[in-house]
Amino acid sequence: MVDTKVTLSGWELDNPVIPASGTFGFGKEFAELYDINCLGTFSFKGTTLRPRFGNPTPRIAECTAGMINSVGLQNPGVDEVLRVQLPEMKQYFHKKVIANVSGFSVEEYAQTCRKLDECGQIGLFEVNVSCPNVHGGGISFGTSPEAAAQVTAAVKKVTTKPVYIKLTPNVTDIASIAKACEDAGADGISLINTLLGMRIDLKTRQPVIANRMGGFSGPAVFPVAVRMVYQVSEAVKIPVMGMGGVSSAEDVIELMLAGASAVQVGAANLVNPYVCREIIEELPAVMERYGIERLRDIIGAAHKE
Ligand code: FUM
Repeated sequence: MVDTKVTLSGWELDNPVIPASGTFGFGKEFAELYDINCLGTFSFKGTTLRPRFGNPTPRIAECTAGMINSVGLQNPGVDEVLRVQLPEMKQYFHKKVIANVSGFSVEEYAQTCRKLDECGQIGLFEVNVSCPNVHGGGISFGTSPEAAAQVTAAVKKVTTKPVYIKLTPNVTDIASIAKACEDAGADGISLINTLLGMRIDLKTRQPVIANRMGGFSGPAVFPVAVRMVYQVSEAVKIPVMGMGGVSSAEDVIELMLAGASAVQVGAANLVNPYVCREIIEELPAVMERYGIERLRDIIGAAHKE
């Protein structure tokens, strides 16, 4: 019998499989399809201080091995998440959940986390400094080590829960940004968010996405995720949650070998809503095939000679 358990900052998960924020909402629609309590946990839709309607449509463009989204952080706002979504979630999800938080100023990140801190359902914060689809927030913090560190320090002041910072791959030196977050007190790093991409319609000769550009994700970005998880886990001592194009149990194992302590699954949920359950079911057989008894033993094994 293989052991799939992993730990994130003292929080033990039955397995490392975590649906990524923005691809799983607050879990309700997926809970209608299968019992989502089989998941390690999940990261809920990026939440901001105030409700957001999101970007104009079209917001999605399909690509050969992935998709581009420009949702624009559509969400009901933190007060509604606390009043409606989280109490409702108790009915169908009985584990702790990851709160994904976005903001447009350092203070806004801190205010949103301060409000959510009281909620016992939240196991850790995933602070998104990497959304490519909004101006004046998100990615602008994640492309500068100083700004990412400022957000980290401000959030750490308002919560005792672990704080993981979600980084953008749209930078030249992701390791230095991860290190700055670690130095500012981050408990973990989460990566990669989407790569900035664009499609143009041949008939209209105009960008497919109303916002012109958006975040590219899906199987095509997997090697980029492996490379960046490897680089970041070499640079920091805190745990790394890996993501980017994951769609199979083999991908989960590969990202863990690169250094991930847990693995998020994003765009694949939109292609096959059962994919996370399938990966969890396949994981023990794939572990056996590669001679892995305890999954946590392989974290970062690719770094050793
Ligand atoms: O536009 C969005 O809601 C996506 C957010 C993200 O990629 O962080």
